[in-house]
Amino acid sequence: MLPRLCLVAALLAVALSQQSGFPSRFGQRFNSGRFQSRPRDRFGRPITTTTTTTTTTTTTPAEKTSEGTLLVPPIPAKCAVRPKHWKLGNHWYFFTADEPEFQELDEKTQETVGKRYDWLDARNVCRKYCMDSVSIESEEEWNMVKNNVSSRDIVYIWSSGRLCDFKGCETREDLKPLNLLGWFWSGTNVKLSTTDKTPPGWREQPWSQTGHLKKPQPDNAEFGINRTPESCLGILNGIYNDGVSFHDIACYHKKPVICEDSKVLLDYARAVSARDNLGLNIE
Ligand SMILES: *[C@@H]1O[C@H](CO)[C@@H](O)[C@H](O)[C@H]1NC(C)=O
Repeated sequence: MLPRLCLVAALLAVALSQQSGFPSRFGQRFNSGRFQSRPRDRFGRPITTTTTTTTTTTTTPAEKTSEGTLLVPPIPAKCAVRPKHWKLGNHWYFFTADEPEFQELDEKTQETVGKRYDWLDARNVCRKYCMDSVSIESEEEWNMVKNNVSSRDIVYIWSSGRLCDFKGCETREDLKPLNLLGWFWSGTNVKLSTTDKTPPGWREQPWSQTGHLKKPQPDNAEFGINRTPESCLGILNGIYNDGVSFHDIACYHKKPVICEDSKVLLDYARAVSARDNLGLNIE
């Protein structure tokens, strides 16, 4: 029994140490949200109109959700029946707005819409299912997400991308300067490549070359307005007439999210299921 308990404890430590992601050593995987002022339709579309990486381990900040909670551990029974809408490689994905559990009635239009979450809540929505907000570590994955967002006319989603600007990051010399090298995918702790260049081996730069300030992203624009840093990576669909692209956005903004399988969380849930004889089939 003891070894199993230890295994579960170790897996839990890993699962929870992923908090917002990073800091611990060098690694390579990394990444982070924007304000909307235009009126939106049920998918959050404006009504008027129509990376790359390296690996790391770090512990994330004690970030609080709106309910004052931190990252949640996965719920094994939910992991066993998690939504599996499509697959790339060996990871399942789903878009929260496609699941009844994450829909709500829009009071104004009386239409069913996808609920929106701040960046950390979005991760927690996914994490209960042994998933996390999508991490985009390859151009293939980027093309998939881009096609998803544009073909469905989704106006924005959260990714797991986060700027390493919290406690513990300041000792990571490899992340400086922060605006260029400080981004990572918190779902996998993989660092993004430098934000000012097309990721090695990619054909295009996923970061938008424009935004609120008409400057390339990330631009930390909201900080200049209200002192809120744009520490989270959102994928916006043409809000600045810039196609589907990465933007740094303040983490409190609310968006739906694409969830992606998390190997760490799935392994943890499988170990818990084995330890507690839950008999779950977590595939
Ligand atoms: C995303 O793209 C994949 C691969 O083309 C597809 O199978 C899936 O249905 C798409 N999902 C959404 C929400 O558009």
